[in-house]
Parts: sequence; C-alpha cells; structure tokens
Amino acid sequence: MTSVHHSEQLAAVTATVGAGRILPVVVLQDAAAAAPLAAALVAGGLRSAEVTFRTDAAADAIRAMSEHPELFVGAGTVVTRTQVDKAVEAGARFIVSPGFSPTVVAHCQQLGVPIFPGVATATEIQMALDAGLETVKFFPAEQLGGTAMIKALSAPFRSVRFIPTGGVNTGNLADYLAHPSVLAVGGTWMVAPALLAAGDWAEVTRLTAAAVTASQEACSC
Ligand code: 3PG
Repeated sequence: MTSVHHSEQLAAVTATVGAGRILPVVVLQDAAAAAPLAAALVAGGLRSAEVTFRTDAAADAIRAMSEHPELFVGAGTVVTRTQVDKAVEAGARFIVSPGFSPTVVAHCQQLGVPIFPGVATATEIQMALDAGLETVKFFPAEQLGGTAMIKALSAPFRSVRFIPTGGVNTGNLADYLAHPSVLAVGGTWMVAPALLAAGDWAEVTRLTAAAVTASQEACSC
C-alpha cells in the first residue's frame, strides 16, 4: 500500500465517521447479536460503528456487522499487532485504540488500514502528529476535562480533529459537537451491555435516533 493511497483512505474514513458525528462503541459478548444490532443502529440513523476487542466475539461480530450493506464497521480497543491483523482479516475498515501505541500505529500504516489512536495529553497528540495522524480519539473525554480540555488542546494543535469518547451521552454530545475541533463523539450509551444482552433492539434504535437528533441540533459554529 503506497502512502498516497493510505492517506486517501484515511481521509475517506475520516469523512465517513465525521459525517455520522456519532460512533457507537460496541462490546458484544455473543456474535449472534451482531446482525440484529447492525440493523438496529442503521434503523436509528447511524452508518458507522466501532466493535471493541474486549470480548472473544469481536472478530466474528465485525465480520457479521460488516455484512450490513449500509454500515461502516471498524475495530476498537485494539492494543496489539495481533488484534490489528484479526480486525483487518474480519473486514474492519478502520482501527481505534484507547491510547497511543507506536507499534500498533506503525502496523496499521504498514497494512494501509486507517487508525484513530487515543490521546489524553499534548505529548500524545505530538506523537500522533509525528506519525502523520491528525484525527485522534480523545479518551476518556469527560474524566479528562471534557470540552474545556479539548478547547485548551485545540489552541496549539489547530489541525487536530478529536473523537471524544468516555462519559459522552445524549445530554452532553451537543456541547462536544459544537466545538470545531470535534469530528465526532463516541460512546456506549445507545448500545449499553444490558440492552444488548436482552436483545432490546427497539430501544437501541430509539436511543440511536435520539442521539442522531441531538447531534443534528448541535451548533456547528
Ligand atoms: C470507550 O471505550 O471508548 C469507552 O469505554 C466508552 O465510554 P462510555 O461507556 O462512557 O461511553
């Protein structure tokens, strides 16, 4: 994969995630729930999802959710090269990691799969910039100071786009999305473990639709 091709792919994935403005962070215990979950998210108005490598079902869930023609599926909580390989093999279109790992980033770049590494500090943002990456997950967002922290970090790093995740929900997502440095927000609130365990797809769709409505009402000034 040439670096030109890779950067074009990164730009395309960034645009897709940015267009939806909300990235559900999915933790699935059982890949059998993947297909109905994909349908429930799309019915609620979302087109992207991050499936985390926190369970053994992750790769199979990515494979099953990727079969939905309208859903763009990435892998999250990717902390090793092996997980990158498994995610790509399962069809993940992008990789997200909770922190900044030079090893994971280099491996993704070698394979040509877009990565949004996690950052929590100015130093980690500089590491991302050194690696040629300007779109980062900001994790854990609320605990780090929320929008005030993003505002402070975006002053020196004007080109950086953030995907704040951690403590984001329908009540505060508009505050995040109103900041020009925020590409999209991530979170689990519309795919809470209890909803997935109960197979309550109607509630997943309802919460997703409410989040989409809240994101559309957010000021993008
Ligand atoms: C993540 O992995 O991105 C976070 O655990 C999501 O945080 P939330 O559960 O507060 O949305």
